[in-house]
Amino acid sequence: MQLPSLTAPLGIFDSGVGGLSVLRAIRAQMPHENLLYFADQGHVPYGSRSLEEVRHFSEAITHFLLGQGAKLIVVACNTASAAALHYLRKTFPDIPFIGMEPAIKPAAEHTNSGVVGVLATPATFQGKLYASVVERFAKDVDVLQDTCQGLVEEIERGALEADSTRKILVAALRPMLDKGLDTVVLGCTHYPFVIPLIEEIVGESVRVIDPAPAVARQVERRLDALNLRQREEIQGEVQIFTSGEKAALESIIPKLREKIYLIQEVKWESGKPEIKGVS
Ligand code: DGL
Repeated sequence: MQLPSLTAPLGIFDSGVGGLSVLRAIRAQMPHENLLYFADQGHVPYGSRSLEEVRHFSEAITHFLLGQGAKLIVVACNTASAAALHYLRKTFPDIPFIGMEPAIKPAAEHTNSGVVGVLATPATFQGKLYASVVERFAKDVDVLQDTCQGLVEEIERGALEADSTRKILVAALRPMLDKGLDTVVLGCTHYPFVIPLIEEIVGESVRVIDPAPAVARQVERRLDALNLRQREEIQGEVQIFTSGEKAALESIIPKLREKIYLIQEVKWESGKPEIKGVS
């Protein structure tokens, strides 16, 4: 296989804006890397879909990002990682993949009360990945779960502080607090955008774990090991693709306190994404 150039971008994807929490961490860790971000907003949310369907989207998006020259793929979505990470590694054996898994290990290591709460989508909880992480690292810990139904949709519309968003989080977290929760694991990449609200509900004594910085460090280690780091000391560029509407995404990104990058619409044609206007 031909080696990719060091200036080739990293490909990052999620069902929507959630993976921008991972992009932000990667950018802070490696500002010189060029980044491609694919938001599959035409299909968001992934969490209530079947694992097969999410696997199909993930494979098609990976093809698309590789077609755009990506040198490594970050599956910046717990749901897609649960559904497809193993399959993607098998299907594209020459491509390095970094995925997400709920940060149960650090949570289990640091909890004092022995009660840990995981917020993730139904599909993530159904996947083998989640079961294996709990089995390996949390045998002696009480792991509580909640799917926060509707929270991804609220974040997709930029409603980070809305009453409807607060209600979902209160309903998830109060029962956990009653059982002695002292650590919350964010098992969905959308949820770091509501950390201030979560912290307000759970209070200072509860630790909230966002795995994005650890994932960014893992991406860096993998690039170093493969000798694929961009070496030029220039600011990397970010290009975003959405299968939703560009104007809608442009209006939401500032609400997430993210920068507007170059955004291009793609459409799903015969089961795969294609850049609009290019035939
Ligand atoms: N951000 C995603 C995750 O980490 C997907 C959420 C969804 O589309 O349901 O699970």
